[in-house]
Amino acid sequence: MIKSRIISTGSYLPERVLTNFELEKMVDTSDEWITERTGITERRIATENQAASDLAYEASKVTLKRAALGIEDIDLIIVATVTGDMPFPSTGCILQDKLGAKYATAFDINAACSGFLYGLYIADGLIRSGMHKRILIVGTEVLSKITDWKDRTTCVLFGDGAGAVIVEPTEEDRGIISMYINSDGSMWDLLHMPGGGSRNPASRDSVDKRLHYVKMKGNELFKVAVRTLEDLVVKILNENNLKPSQLSLLIPHQANLRIIQATADRLGIPMNKVIVNLDRYGNTSAASIPIALDEAARTGRIRDGDYILLEAFGGGLTWASALIKW
Ligand code: COA
Repeated sequence: MIKSRIISTGSYLPERVLTNFELEKMVDTSDEWITERTGITERRIATENQAASDLAYEASKVTLKRAALGIEDIDLIIVATVTGDMPFPSTGCILQDKLGAKYATAFDINAACSGFLYGLYIADGLIRSGMHKRILIVGTEVLSKITDWKDRTTCVLFGDGAGAVIVEPTEEDRGIISMYINSDGSMWDLLHMPGGGSRNPASRDSVDKRLHYVKMKGNELFKVAVRTLEDLVVKILNENNLKPSQLSLLIPHQANLRIIQATADRLGIPMNKVIVNLDRYGNTSAASIPIALDEAARTGRIRDGDYILLEAFGGGLTWASALIKW
């Protein structure tokens, strides 16, 4: 049976590091509060001129190079982002142009922090159906440009970055074993950006009311996230007759260390089997899982034949998981 397999990973983080100590000078916060409540100590910030497609381009180049492929080998580009270059065209099409991907089709996905896994889900289906042969999936975010730097409850959380993978078909006993994507629109208002769309188009008033920034009910989200993520992991493992102890690695979306620890604790997964990099990058939304996956792959934390589990939770609300035999 044909499955899809991740054959290459890559990531790009902007050079500029913004530390908790710098944030202490910008809003009423402290390194101690941020570290204790979130696990974040620093994050990367894009330059004024960098947009989502620029970060995506850097991550894509590395991913193609590591796969020893040219852009002509890619027939579909899927970009997951909530901070696209502009409302339209898609950042996928802008990335297609930058990469010179003449033989590919490109589009975007908006599923907030679950966006990369939504993209992987679509790619997996298209590969298994035989409709596409080699797909580039990129999670890219420049959240610093929709962050309210006067709001201490959100500005300490986010960072910029991009991560990418390439998937292709395989008949080997490895690859994506199963995936789930889910959403519950009844809680969309827990995490959103009200301005800039057709509900509240950009105007002097929308800018004055600070509508073009992320609004989050962090505490409510936290509770839903912990409950949902545990159920999500249990479900995908049960359906595949696997126990948490058989997982070599859990690669969670990097929103909050306490959410990651609570999920791992409830499942009995030791933290040395969990990838954590939010201390260095903060929450990079759709980019967080491909960045973490790339780090894990590059640092030798994943070996052939390992079972690894990717899981995400984010605005929408959306959540998703992927069980992979590497
Ligand atoms: N520095 C100092 N104090 C801060 C602060 C900051 N940066 N941000 C909030 N506080 C204060 C609050 O004002 C509040 O003060 P009060 O008790 O006097 O009202 C207090 O700290 C506690 O706030 P609360 O929001 O209850 O903190 P928390 O423990 O829930 O942590 C988050 C806040 C945002 C870190 C946490 O809720 C979270 O990570 N939520 C989930 C995020 C998430 O999963 N997003 C979706 C996926 S992307």
